[in-house]
Amino acid sequence: MNNDPLGLITSEHEMIRQAARDFAQKEIAPIAAEFDESGEFPYQTIKKMGEMGFMGIEVPEEYGGAGMDTLAYVLALEEICKVDASHGTIMSVNNSLFCYAVLRYGNEWQKQNFLTPVAAGEKIAAYSLTEPMSGSDAGSMRSRAERDGEFYILNGRKSWVTSAPVADIILVFIMTQPDLAHKGISAFLIDTTQPGFSRGKKEPKLGIRASATSEIVFENFRVPVENRLGEEGEGFKIAMSVLDAGRIGIAAQSLGIAEAAYEASLEYTREREAFGQKIGQFQGIGFKLADMKTRIEASRLLTYAAAMAKEKTKKSGGRFTLEASMAKLFASETAMFCAHEAVQIHGGIGYSKELPVERYFRDAKITEIYEGTSEIQRLVISRLETGLR
Ligand code: CAA
Repeated sequence: MNNDPLGLITSEHEMIRQAARDFAQKEIAPIAAEFDESGEFPYQTIKKMGEMGFMGIEVPEEYGGAGMDTLAYVLALEEICKVDASHGTIMSVNNSLFCYAVLRYGNEWQKQNFLTPVAAGEKIAAYSLTEPMSGSDAGSMRSRAERDGEFYILNGRKSWVTSAPVADIILVFIMTQPDLAHKGISAFLIDTTQPGFSRGKKEPKLGIRASATSEIVFENFRVPVENRLGEEGEGFKIAMSVLDAGRIGIAAQSLGIAEAAYEASLEYTREREAFGQKIGQFQGIGFKLADMKTRIEASRLLTYAAAMAKEKTKKSGGRFTLEASMAKLFASETAMFCAHEAVQIHGGIGYSKELPVERYFRDAKITEIYEGTSEIQRLVISRLETGLR
């Protein structure tokens, strides 16, 4: 089976997929285990990924990007994550949570000043919605921004911000009118070099350990009105629609992890012998491989279909929420399933840091949590399908 079940992949797509595959093998594979172990941020490879055009794949060339489509982004991200999900996380936040947001909702000045350096890979970006007391219930945030002439003054604490320890620019969602609940949330583009901004300690994580995550704190942080993305009160809708794009990225990441776990397992079952035969000859192992492969191909169909749904809305408008949530839900549970089976198939050596299989297992778990847990995806899908709340 080739990796183009729907006949969607053009020669341009194939080129970026191959470039990402080669880059991941040559530059990331040799360092992935070391950076996972140390938890250091992989500045050098991320910089090179920026030079390759991987940090703003869907951004038009006039704004520093590669000017390609969503499927191109998905294919490249899948290849990077097949080798290392940490690099993939950094890439996905830049592309779908930041660049997509500024491209869709930003004005010309914001595109020139914030989008272009991030899409060109010269600056690292982050997206900040979650707070210590508001995760899945994103609308219940407590951080505040008060208008003061041509500025807003921000106060509060946001948590679990991917890339925050290294980010130059952060898209932050914050309450400007608490009495309006989610309709009182606004979005701001934050320059992290300004006074009143600080970063909390780096989170010690189970997986994606080379992608840095921390809290961020605002203490009387002054942000100019011109840095507000969209209108006042539009922040929640911006956050949600941008997460739709982000969830396609997490689906692609999950697909990459699942494929890596599957391919390692396939190779091992052809070589490892027990009771006088290859372990792949045991039905108990063969059936695991069959389930892994089937779920991977189903994830691929959902993920590529979600990419195409998003692509369509670029011309026609509308939402791709359902497609993105279904892809994220199924692909992330597939990544966890495949990584779990891969460790089981490998036995003791799968539990050891000698092989990357245990890293796939640790990295897979976050895909069921960030950018909306599996439970939130089920809620989104069921609400859209039933029309009930
Ligand atoms: N696109 C556009 N608008 C949307 C939307 C979407 N996908 N989803 C909701 N909206 C709009 C609704 O139409 C509604 O508009 P009106 O006020 O005009 O009616 C408004 O937003 C409120 O919607 P809901 O009533 O559905 O809101 P809710 O409070 O019930 O929340 C939710 C819905 C699905 C639970 C949402 O809060 C959610 O997705 N939660 C999970 C948050 C999440 O994914 N967090 C991860 C953060 S990022 C991260 O992981 C860290 C990182 O660095 C990667």
